[in-house]
Amino acid sequence: MTEFAHAKINLCLHVTGQRSDGYHLLDSLVVFAGIGDGIRATPAQGFALTVDGPFAAQVPGGDDNLVLRAARLVADQGVSLHLTKRLPPASGIGGGSADAAAAIRAVLRLRAMAGQMMAPDPDLGARILGLGADVPVCLASHPCRMRGIGETLDWLPPLPDTWVVLANPGVEVPTPAVFKALAVKDNPALPDALPHWGSAEALAAFLAEQRNDLEGPARAIAPQIDGVIAALATQTGSLIARMSGSGATCFALFASEDAALDAADVLAAEHPEWWIAAGMIYPGRADMGQLMRAT
Ligand code: C5P
Repeated sequence: MTEFAHAKINLCLHVTGQRSDGYHLLDSLVVFAGIGDGIRATPAQGFALTVDGPFAAQVPGGDDNLVLRAARLVADQGVSLHLTKRLPPASGIGGGSADAAAAIRAVLRLRAMAGQMMAPDPDLGARILGLGADVPVCLASHPCRMRGIGETLDWLPPLPDTWVVLANPGVEVPTPAVFKALAVKDNPALPDALPHWGSAEALAAFLAEQRNDLEGPARAIAPQIDGVIAALATQTGSLIARMSGSGATCFALFASEDAALDAADVLAAEHPEWWIAAGMIYPGRADMGQLMRAT
């Protein structure tokens, strides 16, 4: 059973408060790209994980690996997992969370194929959230407005055709350090009612009024982010450039595939040391349920 672990992109990320346990309250528009890692799950005696791909060396092995922990949450028998790691780790685009979510989807599909549906478990949502605050949204892999610490997800209506270029300067930025360096923790949320975006240009114009509140602290930790955003913003056809999540991966949106692919080629030639990828933003479906609550 194979599952694609889509890169997660925070088109904007407003930090609106902080819980007493230290976790931050967010209001973020999250979308998914046709760029990502791969997970293959096969029934086995025990649990095992093998890894290949360009970033395999940076994936921590052992039983504590997030992918194995995720699989164990939903498996009723052993599973052998294989991860193809194409996304840079600790880079603000889901990474481990997307892999964990893909492992859960793959194991659930294995169980469904074998006719073994899971019994309802009222604690499962909380345990999935406990793997990482981004795991629920990655499990959905659908354009969402994400609130709470990541557990409150509202489906967005289908997005206009939009392409993305991702660029990472090759620095790992630990998420806890970025949140710790954040000075103001009660910034304004997104507007209650979101407009309908009829084009990539309209989406970008809306986003230009929004923020990623983690950009400042991440730039203080990794000043290379400034240069990445500037390079993305000045590409022909670039509609908006911003950092995703807690960085250091940044993105630019484009209205056409050709413009995105050309920009990726130019950036790769100018910055051979950066990780660059281009793909479509998954537009989402009109017929999905409206709401999912992980807790
Ligand atoms: O949940 P996850 O393991 O991805 O979070 C890593 C760290 O990022 C947390 O320990 C916390 O310091 C910070 N974080 C936060 N608020 C969130 C998500 C993460 O403060 N909503």
